Amino acid sequence: MSEFITEQEGVINMMHTPQHGGSTGLEQIEMGATRIHVDDKQIINCRADLNQLVPFKYEWAWKKYLDACANHWMPQEINMAADLALWKDPHGLTSDERLIILRNLGFFSTADSLVANNLVLAVYRLITNPECRQYLLRQAFEEALHTHAYQYVIESLGLDEAEVFNMYREIPSVARKSVWALKYTQSLGDPTFQTGTHENDKRLLRDLIAFYVIFEGIFFYVGFTQILSMGRRNKMTGTSEQFQYILRDESMHLNFGIDVINQIKIENPHLWSADMQEEAIQMIKEGVALEYQYAHDTMPRGILGMNAGMFEEYLHFIANRRLAQIGLPEQYPGAQNPFPWMSEVLDLKKEKNFFETRVIEYQTGGTLTWDDEE
Ligand SMILES: [Fe+2]
Ligand SMILES: [Fe+2]
Repeated sequence: MSEFITEQEGVINMMHTPQHGGSTGLEQIEMGATRIHVDDKQIINCRADLNQLVPFKYEWAWKKYLDACANHWMPQEINMAADLALWKDPHGLTSDERLIILRNLGFFSTADSLVANNLVLAVYRLITNPECRQYLLRQAFEEALHTHAYQYVIESLGLDEAEVFNMYREIPSVARKSVWALKYTQSLGDPTFQTGTHENDKRLLRDLIAFYVIFEGIFFYVGFTQILSMGRRNKMTGTSEQFQYILRDESMHLNFGIDVINQIKIENPHLWSADMQEEAIQMIKEGVALEYQYAHDTMPRGILGMNAGMFEEYLHFIANRRLAQIGLPEQYPGAQNPFPWMSEVLDLKKEKNFFETRVIEYQTGGTLTWDDEE
């Protein structure tokens, strides 16, 4: 204890030190404490001061933060005039196409809010690494932008906002995915929950798999495919462009989550037991079944050259990738991607002339110039 801290403050300091789990960053300042060693850093249960970003241990987390900032976009930059004209034209879209737009806006407009709440109210305080927290803060803002984007589409098309936003409590296939995810965030959202025990560390790992691998990594993909497929056919191009930007962000969220999950496994190999692996496989299978049901309910008759069977194949293909990404065996042998153009959309971020123009605008236009105070 440093000479700068009185005995009484020292007691307070001890009271604020969690008995289990790691630091939160809210502990009393310990004057004269030794400097951070990079090897002291851990994703969970780290006791080193969390208010010191450097030295970096996880360069991948910092790089993803920088990449995400370089990809900044805003929903209102996208012109929605063509979408409004098409939506208002009684012959512009079939009733099946309208159903796809409405149901997806219904699911996504509240889904991103669930993800944001999970990050801020459940996950953030339990991730005890500052460079990962830096990315989480950026991700939380991006989730706000996504909710903003859906609201912007709903407003631009003049839709019934109450109907769309309430769909997650009215339409069973929309509700089921949210209900499935909520139980994982409720577990960690309990303010008395602390990591530091074998059982609780497993709960955190389970929540991370539920949200990053299944909610963001499986539950978004039928909707993304349906909307982007419309854009490819020159329908609802503004809405489709919004979803393209969101998909690019989401693919980074997914990759960050996978890196975090795999790093926790490396640092805590005892958590990745046979029963935990089996549970993760079962969760992914449940996710596939729920998302397949969603594909059916959003596209009962099959349109745009797509049908429910293709979505089943696609979900099996995606699930195999997700399983492999966290070191689990593939469960759907031989599944192929019936929508190879979806991978091309994801790869567009590497090609020039797509997002690049806007990125450059942000990187230069975003520089602040200060007017002299008069
Ligand atoms: Fe999102
Ligand atoms: Fe996300």
